[in-house]
Amino acid sequence: MLNIVLFGPPGAGKGTQSEKLIAQYNLAHLSTGDLFRKHLGEGTELGKLAQKYMDDGNLVPDSVVIDMVKDKIASTTDAKGFIFDGFPRTVPQAEALDQMLGEFETTISGMVALDVPDEELKARLLERGKTSGRADDQNEEKINNRIQVYKNETLPVAEFYEQQGKFNKIHGVGTIDGIFSEIRGVVDQF
Ligand code: AP5
Repeated sequence: MLNIVLFGPPGAGKGTQSEKLIAQYNLAHLSTGDLFRKHLGEGTELGKLAQKYMDDGNLVPDSVVIDMVKDKIASTTDAKGFIFDGFPRTVPQAEALDQMLGEFETTISGMVALDVPDEELKARLLERGKTSGRADDQNEEKINNRIQVYKNETLPVAEFYEQQGKFNKIHGVGTIDGIFSEIRGVVDQF
C-alpha cells in the first residue's frame, strides 16, 4: 500500500494537491477537516462537538479525531492506500495512526510537507473566505490562531516522521501543477 501523510499549515494546499494525488495514484482521501465538515453539515453530535473547536481554529480533542479516523479506515475497502490530509496533527495522533495501520499490516510510506510562508497562507485563506463560507477563514484573527496552533501543536509531527526517515519538504509556492510535479518526484521514490 502507498500511504502518504500530506502535511502543512492551514492554506498550504493540502486539499488542492490531495485531489491530484488521488487521481494519479488511485488512493483514498482521508481529510479529517472534510469529515468534520460533513458531520457539521449533517448536524450530527460529532459535528456539533467539533464545531466549537473548528470555528476558532483550535484542535478537536485527539480521542474524538482518532475514533473517527479508525471508523473511516475500517469502512474503506479496495483502496491502494490513503492520503492523510490534515491528520495526524499531534504526536499522539501520529502514534495512533501507526498502530491502526499496523493492524492492517501496513505503514506510512512517507510524509510530504508543504512549506509556505505565513503571509502567503493568510492571503490565500482571506481570499478563500470571501466565497467558501468557512467560519475559520472569516477573519485575520482566526487565521492567525490556526497558524499559531499549527506551530505549537502540529509541527512536532514533522519531527516524529523525520526520526523515522520519512520526512520530505516541498516548497509550496508556485503553480499548482508545478508543485504537484515536485510532489510526484518525491512520492515516486516511496
Ligand atoms: P482542515 O480542514 O484540515 O483545514 P486546514 O489544515 O486549516 O487546511 P485548509 O483546508 O484551510 O488548507 P489546505 O492546506 O487544505 O489548502 P487548500 O488546498 O484548501 O481543518 C479544519 C479544522 O478542523 C482545524 O482547524 C481543526 O479545528 C479541525 N481538525 C481537522 N483535522 C484535525 C485533526 N487531525 N486534529 C484536530 N482537529 C482537526 O488551499 C487553500 C487555498 O489556497 C484555496 O483557496 C486554494 O485554491 C489556494 N491554493 C492552493 N494551492 C495554491 C497555490 N499553489 N497558489 C495559490 N493558491 C493556492
